[in-house]
Amino acid sequence: MTASLENAKPASASAATTPLAGEVVIPGDKSISHRSFILGALASGTTHIHHLLEGDDVLATGRAMAAMGAKVEQTQVGHWQVTGVGNGGLTNPESALDFGNAGTGVRLVMGAMVGAGASGHCIGDASLSKRPMGRVIDPLTQMGAVFRKPDGSDTDKLPLQLDAPARALPLAYELPVPSAQVKSAILLAGLGAPGQTIVRESHPTRDHTERMLKLFGADIESHTDANGVEIRLTGEARLTGTEIIVPGDPSSAAFPLVAALLVPQSKVTINNVMVNPHRNGLWTCLEEMGAQIERKNQREAAGETVADFTIHATSLNAIDVPAHRAPSMIDEYPILAMAAATARGTTHLTGLGELRVKESDRLSAVVAGLRANGVEVEEFDDAMKIHGCDGQVPGGGVVETHLDHRIAMSFLVLGLAAQKPITVDDTRMIATSFPAFFDLMRALNAHMEIAGS
Ligand code: S3P
Repeated sequence: MTASLENAKPASASAATTPLAGEVVIPGDKSISHRSFILGALASGTTHIHHLLEGDDVLATGRAMAAMGAKVEQTQVGHWQVTGVGNGGLTNPESALDFGNAGTGVRLVMGAMVGAGASGHCIGDASLSKRPMGRVIDPLTQMGAVFRKPDGSDTDKLPLQLDAPARALPLAYELPVPSAQVKSAILLAGLGAPGQTIVRESHPTRDHTERMLKLFGADIESHTDANGVEIRLTGEARLTGTEIIVPGDPSSAAFPLVAALLVPQSKVTINNVMVNPHRNGLWTCLEEMGAQIERKNQREAAGETVADFTIHATSLNAIDVPAHRAPSMIDEYPILAMAAATARGTTHLTGLGELRVKESDRLSAVVAGLRANGVEVEEFDDAMKIHGCDGQVPGGGVVETHLDHRIAMSFLVLGLAAQKPITVDDTRMIATSFPAFFDLMRALNAHMEIAGS
């Protein structure tokens, strides 16, 4: 057992004797919750946030913004009030900012620090300290920031000392990797720069930062053509506090959604799910595989659209998932792989390079976990082929989660439809994105047991 598993909480999931059934409300979206704290802290006045995701990742972002001068208060469970510092008003934190497991938190906050002239030391857990930071360091350095390691070692990784410029420089930048985190870091830094900051992306990524900057009163425009999207932000912007009702997280909804498809005769309703077009790749794939997903009551919330989903169990067929779909389902590949493992035929997934630099190397974690549970799978540099078991996944294996919440939740879902229980070696990190996961899944009749509880 590795040191990081010393206090691990393994869990097992086994096939339900009854179908999954019921109606649940999905917790707030993680991306929007991070951004609510960050933009609320940068704005003048007070931002009222409702249905915030109170996961460890988001709370770390809230603490970072409070350490730099914002007033961040919980008024009731899920309801928060942020009184911002106003233009460029962040102060240098007195101690290190600890982002835990959160790539989104650290990358976006580093952008905000560059825009607001706040310098500080950024740290994270073992998983985050392995993830590439060069992708934000490169543009933020061009905007005037200096990144240093106290011991002079590789600046691509945390821990990092960020020295912010007194005033950020505007930048025109073409994203080398499709990453909403990189795009957002540049835009947040651009808030403090004179003139226009321009980001171009050839493969559109989630646009929550753009939508929310508009809500807070920034001058920002996006233009889409055959070459992709160009976003122009006018800097030295005055943001004003606002009200945000965080829509339900489609990346969390993915787990009960796929569970309902895989457990025979299930019928589950998931309310209040955000249906942003840059987050819908999973449903597109599942529908191509034969799933029936009813979407009702479409409505607006915080500049986004939400809907209620009803899912009926369906046997699925293999598909080819095109590489261009990756940005719209980047966090959903592990759970899609579980659906593919139960499907009839071979599912070919391509364009998966970014999966190698998530909370774990998700490509190899999925491959190893599936093999440990009797599913035949082929691994390539940025692709995999999953030979589906046509509803007969053997199971019975133990999955190494590598501190990755989505690997843990995905294999627990597969356990609900496997012939023998599936065990994951740790579940503590599920609290980073979906603290209510076990309660919500059990409310739908799922058999999941955490060791020692
Ligand atoms: C996120 C963007 C995605 C995603 C992450 C959240 C965001 O990362 O994987 O969970 O909130 O901007 P990349 O943009 O780096 O792909």
